Amino acid sequence: MNTFFIFLSTYNLLRLGLGFNIFTVTPEIHTDLVAKQPQRNNSVDTYKHFSDVMNEFEMLGNWSNLCNISQTGRTDFNIMCIIKGNSSIKLSEFRDFTYRVSSNIRFDISVTCEDGIIYFPWPFRADKLHRIYIKDCRIKDYNTEFKNSLIDQIPDTIKFLQMDNVTTILRMEEVYDSLSKVNSPITRAAECGPENAIVIIRRGTKTTFEDMQNNGLFNFSTALTNDKHYFDIQKRTCLYDNLEVFEISGMNVDRQVVDKIVQVNVAENLKVLNFSGNGMSDTLYKLQGWRLRFPVMEYIDLSDNNIRDLPMIRDFGMTVKETKSVGIIDLRRNKITSLTKKV
Ligand SMILES: *[C@@H]1O[C@H](CO)[C@@H](O)[C@H](O)[C@H]1NC(C)=O
Ligand SMILES: *[C@@H]1O[C@H](CO)[C@@H](O)[C@H](O)[C@H]1NC(C)=O
Ligand SMILES: *[C@@H]1O[C@H](CO)[C@@H](O)[C@H](O)[C@H]1NC(C)=O
Ligand SMILES: *[C@@H]1O[C@H](CO)[C@@H](O)[C@H](O)[C@H]1NC(C)=O
Ligand SMILES: *[C@@H]1O[C@H](CO)[C@@H](O)[C@H](O)[C@H]1NC(C)=O
Ligand SMILES: *[C@@H]1O[C@H](CO)[C@@H](O)[C@H](O)[C@H]1NC(C)=O
Ligand SMILES: *[C@@H]1O[C@H](CO)[C@@H](O)[C@H](O)[C@H]1NC(C)=O
Repeated sequence: MNTFFIFLSTYNLLRLGLGFNIFTVTPEIHTDLVAKQPQRNNSVDTYKHFSDVMNEFEMLGNWSNLCNISQTGRTDFNIMCIIKGNSSIKLSEFRDFTYRVSSNIRFDISVTCEDGIIYFPWPFRADKLHRIYIKDCRIKDYNTEFKNSLIDQIPDTIKFLQMDNVTTILRMEEVYDSLSKVNSPITRAAECGPENAIVIIRRGTKTTFEDMQNNGLFNFSTALTNDKHYFDIQKRTCLYDNLEVFEISGMNVDRQVVDKIVQVNVAENLKVLNFSGNGMSDTLYKLQGWRLRFPVMEYIDLSDNNIRDLPMIRDFGMTVKETKSVGIIDLRRNKITSLTKKV
């Protein structure tokens, strides 16, 4: 149990003890979680020489100790981090750093954890961040910026996002505070993630609660019951104009997430939709008419799920001629035991 947690618990007990109704309070209470957005100075490029990027990076505390930065192109930099043992890095520090370098620079970040923890709030937004790859990490603060409107103002520059075998470590209250309510909706950034991305891959993400055992401290079910009718069920339509590959695999996927990408969001250039290994059984039914929504789709991967029945999926008269590809629906390794003549 770390000091932050003790602080939080005490804080909760105090507030509950004092009888404040914390669930109707909408202003952000975690002021330390509100990202500071430095004043940007567009009048000059702060750093004229790329060596200054390196020098500036060297001043980034834990980042410079745990990561190597290298120049991979005229304006491209690659940051490779290995987070071991009890070390950690914070995205907010990198975010502040990106404002101090020339506007034409792009960063690729690759973080691999060997036990270490990273403090990376979804959707990892930072100006000039072009590619982000996270592997084997435990992520904290994941839900803490869901209602921070400043995040929507940071340029959405991520083109490639991939998470492999990541565990998000949440707190009950953090999750509760991040739920969209009528009088405090979540931001577009939190709901849609990187809307300019070409590739979004989440492979084997798990979620745990660090305060699960202490369920007396924050009574999630009571809070939910009290607040029920305030929840905002209206969902935005996210626009993924560049998106070609979308994968959520090897995890329990929220039904709403599937519905959104399949039925609500706009992703006309999507070529690969991958829901492999998610224990899904009825997703195929939602793909009725998929050709109309995804005109250039090449591969829908539903392998390694629990699909038992094959519905008639109509193509609405679209032929190979009209579309660029036939479109494969991969149903290997499911639980299909019989087919009707029609199918
Ligand atoms: C922006 O840069 C110019 C030129 O270096 C400087 O005069 C000005 O004070 C800067 N403004 C801010 C807000 O830092
Ligand atoms: C950074 O470079 C040093 C020296 O080449 C190497 O020992 C270290 O493993 C590298 N660290 C990362 C995170 O790649
Ligand atoms: C990291 O953990 C090791 C032992 O697990 C300990 O000796 C060391 O002091 C810790 N370092 C920091 C910075 O907390
Ligand atoms: C930097 O790492 C140390 C331990 O390695 C940790 O105690 C400290 O909180 C970290 N700082 C940030 C800003 O992540
Ligand atoms: C996934 O990450 C955990 C650490 O969070 C690690 O212990 C485990 O070996 C990783 N699994 C795979 C398949 O790489
Ligand atoms: C949490 O609230 C539920 C529903 O009101 C109640 O049944 C349960 O006993 C409460 N749990 C704790 C630990 O207070
Ligand atoms: C879908 O995801 C699984 C698991 O990551 C992977 O093995 C498979 O190759 C992917 N399929 C496609 C078409 O990319």
